[in-house]
Amino acid sequence: MLVNLTDLLPAAAASDGAVACCNVFGIEEAQAVIAAAETLDLPVILAVNKDMVDLAGVEAMAGLLLPMAKASTAKVCVHLDHCYDEQIVYRAIHAGFSSVMFDGSQLPLAENIRRTQQVVQVAHAVGVSVEGELGSVPYQEGRDHIKSALTLPDEAAVFAVQSGVDAMAISIGNVHRMTEAGSPIDYTLLEEIEKLTQLPLVIHGTTGIAENDLRILKTHRVAKFNVGTTLRMAFGNAIRSEMEMSPDKFDRQYFASRALPALKEEAMRVLTLLAPSR
Ligand code: 13P
Repeated sequence: MLVNLTDLLPAAAASDGAVACCNVFGIEEAQAVIAAAETLDLPVILAVNKDMVDLAGVEAMAGLLLPMAKASTAKVCVHLDHCYDEQIVYRAIHAGFSSVMFDGSQLPLAENIRRTQQVVQVAHAVGVSVEGELGSVPYQEGRDHIKSALTLPDEAAVFAVQSGVDAMAISIGNVHRMTEAGSPIDYTLLEEIEKLTQLPLVIHGTTGIAENDLRILKTHRVAKFNVGTTLRMAFGNAIRSEMEMSPDKFDRQYFASRALPALKEEAMRVLTLLAPSR
């Protein structure tokens, strides 16, 4: 069933758990993540990142993912990850994405609010949810233009009220695309943000956060965790070992299907770790 962030995040924020938002790059990743959600009877968010937007375009990704989300017994949100360009956001909405992120984190506060508000107005008119970002979560690699900045609680209070977003991504020590856990999470900063805002909060860079920190964070108002690298590693490493085992084979589909169980298993580990206690 296709859902948006508003269907999922307020309840998750109020619970002792959160919803996993998994970057997917093609049919196999989407199948594995949806299968993990169905097996565990948990909701999930499929996120299309800038790499896939540049490679395939939002229309092709919507064409792939929307039928899968609609056919699933799990609640599945089809979400556009970090997007800095309103025209692409609007194309994604037109193509049927149920949720979008407009990332104005590199802009001055007033411009971030103004441009996010415009996206919210369009998106909400057609039932699409919007995530914004305040402060800026750095990247270990791959996005050199991103200047890192911790979220300032006073600015978060203004952004949360004025932007109109359904969820706010915050920067509290988390880092995108780490291959090992170890990001130092600033809980004092998180608590200050929680005191001054009411919105469901989003943490990006989940791969770089230690399991114990994830268990603590999910009991706070963090309702959505973005997960990418650990899934990419599980799938990529499984494909590599399958290729090493079968040097005579060459079909993409052969290797992808052989690697799929390792990806599903990693998705199940992450979904289980982040889920509320039942
Ligand atoms: P990781 O790749 O660090 O898990 O983060 C993914 C992410 O935050 C995508 O928005």
